Formats: sequence, C-alpha cells, structure tokens
Amino acid sequence: MPRLLIVQHTPSPNLRVMYEAVLAGASDPAIEGVQVVSRPALGATAMDVLEADGYVLGTPANLGYMSGAMKLFFDQVYYPVLDATRGRPFGLYVHGNNDTTGAVRAIEGITKGMGWTRAAEHVLVAGEPTTADIGACRELGGTLAATLMD
Ligand SMILES: Cc1cc2nc3c(=O)[nH]c(=O)nc-3n(C[C@H](O)[C@H](O)[C@H](O)COP(=O)(O)O)c2cc1C
Repeated sequence: MPRLLIVQHTPSPNLRVMYEAVLAGASDPAIEGVQVVSRPALGATAMDVLEADGYVLGTPANLGYMSGAMKLFFDQVYYPVLDATRGRPFGLYVHGNNDTTGAVRAIEGITKGMGWTRAAEHVLVAGEPTTADIGACRELGGTLAATLMD
C-alpha cells in the first residue's frame, strides 16, 4: 500500500492546529488505499523516508530558516535517501510570526537537491491560522495522499 509520511516539528498550539488539519486531510476516508504515517522531525529516520512514497513537511520559521529539528532531519537523511527517493512528491507547510521566506527557500533548495517534486502549493501562515489557512492545510494533506492513490 502506498504510504504518505508526514515529518513535522510541532512546538506550539498554532503549529498543532496546522498539523492536525494536514493529518485530517491526508486521512480523509474518501482517499482509499493510502497509509498515513507521521513522525516528529527529531524522530524521523532514513528508513521512514525510504519506506514512504510521498511526504508532507511541516516546520516553524526560526531565525530566517527552518527549525533546527527539521534541519537535523535533513542532515540525517539526505545522503542515505538520495537517488532512492528521486521524483517522489512532497508538500510543505510553514508557520511563522511574520516572515517564512528563508525557511521556504531552504527547504525548496534541499528538496530540489533530493529530486523531490512539489505536488501542491505551499501553505505559509503568519500568526494565528485562519479558517482558510486550516482549510489549506487540510487540502495539502488530502492532495498529497490523493497523489499516491493507485
Ligand atoms: C528563536 C525564534 C526565532 C524565530 N524566527 C522567526 C522568523 O525568522 N520568522 C518568523 O516568521 N517567525 C519566527 N519565529 C516565530 C516562530 O516561527 C513561531 O513562534 C512558531 O511558528 C510558533 O508559532 P506560535 O508561537 O505563534 O504558535 C521565531 C521564534 C523563535 C522562538
């Protein structure tokens, strides 16, 4: 069964709301035959990445970059999964107080190096997520999961 892996760093209630919406969208009963697995960025392994077929990445913007936890995830899996995961789809959500640009740029650069394919619009949220933001997160999860349907 195809598997969607959500790798998330969720250190605050606002990120929790976004993560839960992504998970709910990915787990929509209308999307059949896709297994959804979630790992905190600090616990996700190269094997988790290799065993999945697509990815959703979620991180806060910290100091103009992705969180240290998400950076550590990429540091640990980049070479072990390189080539084996080329071409796989990914989605991204980022939460910040005011500027998520650096985090997005960094993740776009790394995923480009890995050969992953952006399968949905990024969801970028500043401050408290609105109803529309939460809907966009739900759609992000749903889109990635649907991409993996047989
Ligand atoms: C050390 C630190 C650096 C941060 N740097 C940024 C930043 O560069 N850009 C930004 O938009 N938000 C920044 N933030 C805000 C975080 O992204 C925000 O706290 C996180 O997404 C959780 O959101 P919440 O506290 O509103 O729930 C920073 C927060 C901390 C603690």
